[in-house]
Amino acid sequence: MLPTHRPSIADEEINAIKDVFESRWLGKGSVTDKFEEQLCLHLETTHVLCVNSGTAALQMAVECLELNPDFEVLVPSLTFPATIQAIVLAGGQPIFCEVEPTTLNIDIEDAKSRLTPNCRIILPVHYAGQACDMDKVLNLAQENNLFVVEDAAHAFGSTYKGRAVGSLGDLTCFSFDPIKNITCGGGGAVATDNDELAARILPLRNIGIDKEFRLRIDHPKSWKYEVVSLGYRYLMSNINAAIGLGQLKKIAAFKDRKIFIVKRYNDAFAEAPEITVLEQNLDETFPFSYVIRISPTYRDRLIAHLKQNGIDSAVQFTPNHLQPAFSQYRTDLPTTEMLFSEILTIPLFYEMTDSDVDKVINAILGFFHG
Ligand SMILES: Cc1ncc(COP(=O)(O)O)c(C=O)c1O
Repeated sequence: MLPTHRPSIADEEINAIKDVFESRWLGKGSVTDKFEEQLCLHLETTHVLCVNSGTAALQMAVECLELNPDFEVLVPSLTFPATIQAIVLAGGQPIFCEVEPTTLNIDIEDAKSRLTPNCRIILPVHYAGQACDMDKVLNLAQENNLFVVEDAAHAFGSTYKGRAVGSLGDLTCFSFDPIKNITCGGGGAVATDNDELAARILPLRNIGIDKEFRLRIDHPKSWKYEVVSLGYRYLMSNINAAIGLGQLKKIAAFKDRKIFIVKRYNDAFAEAPEITVLEQNLDETFPFSYVIRISPTYRDRLIAHLKQNGIDSAVQFTPNHLQPAFSQYRTDLPTTEMLFSEILTIPLFYEMTDSDVDKVINAILGFFHG
């Protein structure tokens, strides 16, 4: 079965893990530090704090703002549930917003109409890798005194008006889970230029301990540490960071190949009036997923047809305002619900061969035009 996403792992990652094993320092350490330094360069930002998942990154980002209880967060409903779980775990309440049908990114006019006095954060999700309209996001935030926390789980390596996603809002969160643009096997990161917020995340990600362990080693009282706050155990290990460092070396090739495949799909589906493709600016986007929109009357049949042809597909995502766990935040989102009934994610990953791409195109066009 051709999956929708698949990581590309080769000698770079295997050798890097071998070095970590040989060093016998498997947990958070110098390899994690090196990965953070490299990420700072890629993301054009002063601080990058690695953690063990994108979900943890989002939770840290929201929690480090130390807002009053019951703060509210403008967030699209059409996102992975992790985005919403992180907000609620950090003490916030989601205000679910619509997305734009053309990009599936947050609809800023709709978000504006849902603002409340308790709203303190706007949390845009860069869906499928394309940056949201950050000028509009930043303007809305400035006019209403909101923090901008970005969910860039899909958008590592993308830019907005030439600036790296990661250098735009107050805090930007990345995921390095196994299917993302680059993977660590599992992991995440918060990027920020704000020294104070970065300093608050350090103890939060390490059970409240004030100093990083390795920084204490050379100190005469190396055993000494203080627990300055509550905190979680969200560190990224040397093993995971080593995988990430291997991936960073290949990022240009990963991006070019995925853009090539997206262009092949776009050209092929331009001939099919039944298919709407997302509007993506490929000069700035490192595409994560390829999503088509089709009429709900035949989406299930297309999914079954693809499966029969050995091709997997997915619906990213079930809107969160429809999920039982978030029922108390339910609201009317007719555009999101319409889009939910139409979207379908088809295979897009670096190691897809040209014949894999042809197979997907032929299966989809064959479904519509027999
Ligand atoms: C939009 C979005 N946000 C957050 C996450 C959470 O990342 P992680 O799986 O690394 O916790 C994901 C992961 O799939 C995601 O797609």
